[in-house]
Amino acid sequence: MPKFDNLWGTGQSTIDGILRATADLIAGKNFVVIGFGHCGRGVALRAKGLGARRVIICEVNPHRALTAALEGFDVLPMIEAAEVGDIFVTATGNISAIRAEHMEKMRSGVTLCNTGHFNVEINIPDLERLSVGKRELRPLVDEYTLKDGRKIYLLAQGRLVNLACAEGHPSEVMDMSFSDQALAVEWIVKNKEPLSKMGSVVLDIPKEIDKTVAQLKCKAMNLKLDVLTPEQEAYLSGWTEGTV
Ligand SMILES: NC(=O)c1ccc[n+]([C@@H]2O[C@H](COP(=O)([O-])OP(=O)(O)OC[C@H]3O[C@@H](n4cnc5c(N)ncnc54)[C@H](O)[C@@H]3O)[C@@H](O)[C@H]2O)c1
Repeated sequence: MPKFDNLWGTGQSTIDGILRATADLIAGKNFVVIGFGHCGRGVALRAKGLGARRVIICEVNPHRALTAALEGFDVLPMIEAAEVGDIFVTATGNISAIRAEHMEKMRSGVTLCNTGHFNVEINIPDLERLSVGKRELRPLVDEYTLKDGRKIYLLAQGRLVNLACAEGHPSEVMDMSFSDQALAVEWIVKNKEPLSKMGSVVLDIPKEIDKTVAQLKCKAMNLKLDVLTPEQEAYLSGWTEGTV
């Protein structure tokens, strides 16, 4: 269930933050997403839907890079993406995903923002060091002037753009995560005896809880599902039918 808020919640609210802060046109832009995890994938999907000319993914994980390519995104190393991007969004959970070597390659007028980890994904000390001037162009948009006259626009001082410039995730997606968490707490209380004997462990939320929340959400969204016939259930749960 948490994947729902990282993927669709962060995806939409990050774009919302960029638009509220800048009123930029996404259509026709080269939109670079650094990190293709749940959050980055959500942002990339939304940028594509808004008509970005190219959505470019930068990754360090080959599995994630391959997934991005097979989903129809460009994959480039950041040093190459830096030369062509118009809007850059970091979603890595890592430090310095955008740093001096990238800023030095960027075109004038690019927008940088972060939807990942605190304010460390864009190396702001690097940006300060490369700049000769800085002014607040409009609320939550800082214009940095580099030594060669190029301008770089930084949103929300590198903090989470969807929280600083918009309203975070829509409640319609957070309801699933919070329901999961509330039911998980209830499950822990009800099972405190056996759980207390397990010591310090990390457990997955019981599948039944996930299923209950999904069923309730489907009902709330008026989604009608098919139901397995008894024969289909037997076929799926056994290994003899169709193999012998
Ligand atoms: N903005 C929000 O509201 C919000 C919501 C949920 C999570 N987050 C944060 O977003 C971040 C990402 O979350 P996630 O669930 O997508 O994580 P994830 O671990 O699934 O994905 C991160 C991806 O970034 C890649 N990566 C790491 N360092 C990189 C680098 N230097 N260059 C390119 N790629 C790099 C990893 O390989 C990975 O695929 C986390 O810090 C998380 O806390 C933000």
